[in-house]
Amino acid sequence: MPPERTPLLPSAQLPIGRMTCVIVDGLPIGVANAAGHIYAFDDTCRHEGGSLSSGALIDGTVTCPWHGWTYTLHNGKAIVPPVGIRVRVFPVTVVDGMIFADIEWE
Ligand code: FES
Repeated sequence: MPPERTPLLPSAQLPIGRMTCVIVDGLPIGVANAAGHIYAFDDTCRHEGGSLSSGALIDGTVTCPWHGWTYTLHNGKAIVPPVGIRVRVFPVTVVDGMIFADIEWE
């Protein structure tokens, strides 16, 4: 099944340095504006399910607010132990001021 281009929110609602969570068909998707680059990712931490978009956005990484696991947003890989774990990331496009993510449903 091809990815589904899904509207998330207007880019004007996501200033630089901010994150939010959008629920799409029950899937929580984190959306971050890191220095003008928009990322979309699975908002559920792989450790115990913390909301990553409620954590800290620093230099293209997101740190979970619960116990500090940190993921690189461009590929979803954890960069503090345990490395190798990753969260899903979704390709993003911005069209006419709306942020879209391409989501492949399993
Ligand atoms: S739930 Fe995210 S680090 Fe524990």
